[in-house]
Amino acid sequence: MADDLILDVQDVKKAYDGLEVLKGIGFGLRKGETKVLIGPSGSGKSTLLRCINHLTVPDAGRIYLNGDEVLDTNIDAMRARMGFVFQDFNLFSHLTVLDNVRICQIKVNGTEKAAATQRAHRELERVGLSDKADAYPAELSGGQQQRVSIARALAMDPDVLLFDEPTSALDPELTGEVVRVMQQLAAEGMTMVVVTHEMSFARQAADEIIFMEDGHIIEQGPPETMFTDSTHERTRAFLNVIAEHG
Ligand SMILES: Nc1ncnc2c1ncn2[C@@H]1O[C@H](COP(=O)(O)OP(=O)(O)OP(=O)(O)O)[C@@H](O)[C@H]1O
Ligand SMILES: [Mg+2]
Repeated sequence: MADDLILDVQDVKKAYDGLEVLKGIGFGLRKGETKVLIGPSGSGKSTLLRCINHLTVPDAGRIYLNGDEVLDTNIDAMRARMGFVFQDFNLFSHLTVLDNVRICQIKVNGTEKAAATQRAHRELERVGLSDKADAYPAELSGGQQQRVSIARALAMDPDVLLFDEPTSALDPELTGEVVRVMQQLAAEGMTMVVVTHEMSFARQAADEIIFMEDGHIIEQGPPETMFTDSTHERTRAFLNVIAEHG
């Protein structure tokens, strides 16, 4: 294992009722890298992300975070070091924006309330929502809710951020404001794995694009290579469909 990898995923396999969804997936992520995971519906992208922090427990393979293996026995501590941003935001509806962003810092990390509050305000400012600290999620647009959920993840000071289609529930205008925040994070050196169909983000922010199909990684490489002269027919066909409809 290369010791400068923040995330090292080795030969991960998962089956549901005999249906093999991940057939031996491996990739590595260095500090500050952004990798974008693409592939057709059902190819296993969400399952892979969920296996990384054991929301879904893999059948086989190993996952290391900063050299420490992710195991059932240490999963709470490991999850605290991996931010997860979901398609449907997953905010606590009965808590204000401020409380959403500080609750895990206090409950999971044991941060003092004053420090957690200060950090929450800092992260809300980073995502452009300083003025919404006292609002409830239902009072926000989808794009704003998603930015709160990014602020919440950032406030935990994660080693890596995992995004599963963070903009697919949003209108195009709202997608833009979330994508801009993600681009800013990538530029600032955050380490991220992003499942998305936003090819402008992939082109601009990804160090590498990973194309998955049917539980395998078919091809991976820098965006320049993947978009212009992908060697695999399946990758080209997929990117053409995205270009037409995405
Ligand atoms: N909890 C589950 N139980 C049974 N089958 C599942 C479960 N979760 C996922 N699957 C199956 O695993 C396969 C991969 O699903 P997954 O959600 O990982 O795909 P995906 O690449 O994220 O697709 P999409 O682009 O539609 O989000 C699909 O065939 C799906 O039906
Ligand atoms: Mg998915």
